[in-house]
Amino acid sequence: MLPGWAMQGSRGDENRAHKGPESASSRRTLGQWVHHPEGITKSAELGFAPRGHLAANRWSLLAAKERTLVSRDTNGGTTRRDRDAGKPTAARAASLSRRTAWDLTPSRLAMRLAERRRGPRPLLDLADSNPTRVALREPAAALSATLAAVADDTESLRYLPEPCGPTPARVAIAAMLREDGATVAPEHVVLTSGTSEGYAHLFRLLADPGDLVHVPAPGYPLFEHLAALEGAETARYPLREPRTGARWRVDLDALAASLEPHSRVLLVIHPHHPSGSFLDPEDLAALRALACERGLAIVSDEVFAGSAFGAEASPGVLVGADAGPLHFVLGGLSKRLALPQLKISWIAVGGPAAQRDDALARLEFIADAYLSVSPLLAAAVPELLARRAAIAGALRARITGNRTRLAAVLAGGPHELLPAEAGWAAILRVPGVRDEDALVMSLLERGVWVHPGSLFDLESRTADGTPCAHLVLQLLAEPSVFDRALEILSPALARCYGFLP
Ligand SMILES: Cc1ncc(COP(=O)(O)O)c(C=O)c1O
Repeated sequence: MLPGWAMQGSRGDENRAHKGPESASSRRTLGQWVHHPEGITKSAELGFAPRGHLAANRWSLLAAKERTLVSRDTNGGTTRRDRDAGKPTAARAASLSRRTAWDLTPSRLAMRLAERRRGPRPLLDLADSNPTRVALREPAAALSATLAAVADDTESLRYLPEPCGPTPARVAIAAMLREDGATVAPEHVVLTSGTSEGYAHLFRLLADPGDLVHVPAPGYPLFEHLAALEGAETARYPLREPRTGARWRVDLDALAASLEPHSRVLLVIHPHHPSGSFLDPEDLAALRALACERGLAIVSDEVFAGSAFGAEASPGVLVGADAGPLHFVLGGLSKRLALPQLKISWIAVGGPAAQRDDALARLEFIADAYLSVSPLLAAAVPELLARRAAIAGALRARITGNRTRLAAVLAGGPHELLPAEAGWAAILRVPGVRDEDALVMSLLERGVWVHPGSLFDLESRTADGTPCAHLVLQLLAEPSVFDRALEILSPALARCYGFLP
């Protein structure tokens, strides 16, 4: 049985239960589940949201690909090759790969959102995590000043291809990572063009086709697509919500039980998105032990490092990594400095020296095949990182300010703002609501767009089994915009018991 499906107690359980254990030959890849031929129609009939729905949401809402792509390679039992046999060469359509045969039919929510965006009435977007649209002065000021200096430097006129990125950028990133106490050196850092490219490089390095990457649920919805694009599969392991406090914990038993001989990677998000929880040190120690025992690598997504609300941020996983297993930390300027337009991210590698250096040599080879990072933009990294305290301070003030006002609006009511330690998102739990999409749709009709929790694999029940919906809000919005959204959200949520069956 596909481990993620077996463990996850989300809304599809009743419908999945009858499938029973699958034989190796009948086992579907996650991609096949994601792109179930009956897709959204089936999910609507069954009254739950399997991955096809989420995938359509993800691709159409987050990546704005609101269109239908070609259907699958098989149709009515015949393959494209059968159907095309004997046709004149000029009439034959090119074959597209099976791994890109996604169902890109937009969900109802996605279509309504697109309509709403095209329409005349304003929409307050609390799903937007683009920091360049929310009037933050500090990142913009730092970027203007730094790019002007880069443009003035005659060195900028030369192109020196360096697969892992220019040395000054790697020196500055390593120095920042060492502040946590890690022993990372500049030569352990590889620049990438965005974090998604970092994932692609790592999956190419660590997994052969069909190998398994274990990802947290809840978590970031893009992982399964990034892995599938490199031929790897994902399996979800559950994170357990705390009874008190903000620290979600890894369900280590469920994770261990889901490991297979072709498992290759344990992926963590630290701090986690969207819960804003740090990885607990005890969980990290257990993950390391498991990884060493089973020959796995740890990949830690630390794009939200530096966003802790309080003084006591947990260090990154490179601290203490030397004893093994292999550790890969992903970070980038997109979240760290609120500068996604630079497309500058990095992979930092830690672990036993021989393994680490072997991995780095191969990563360099992969990076050399693409040379995707612009040296011109990478030249700005040292100066930009030197200004990170001011940018992080402005981000923290914006996020904690919006969060405090959100908490005040909800105080005393039945809706719960889940505690968090860091990050840009807030999770709002709406008890008693069974139809999360209907709630999100009704908020959209009132002029506020938020993400449904199902997009991030948040459960549709509380720990005691009560049905609930989750809304994921981004806290970056300008305070005046955020307050206007709260004025709509607050009474709408007060009325939401109308969604009870
Ligand atoms: C957990 C996580 N990892 C990675 C990314 C992507 O980062 P980047 O903007 O560098 O591609 C995001 C974006 O929201 C994220 O939430």
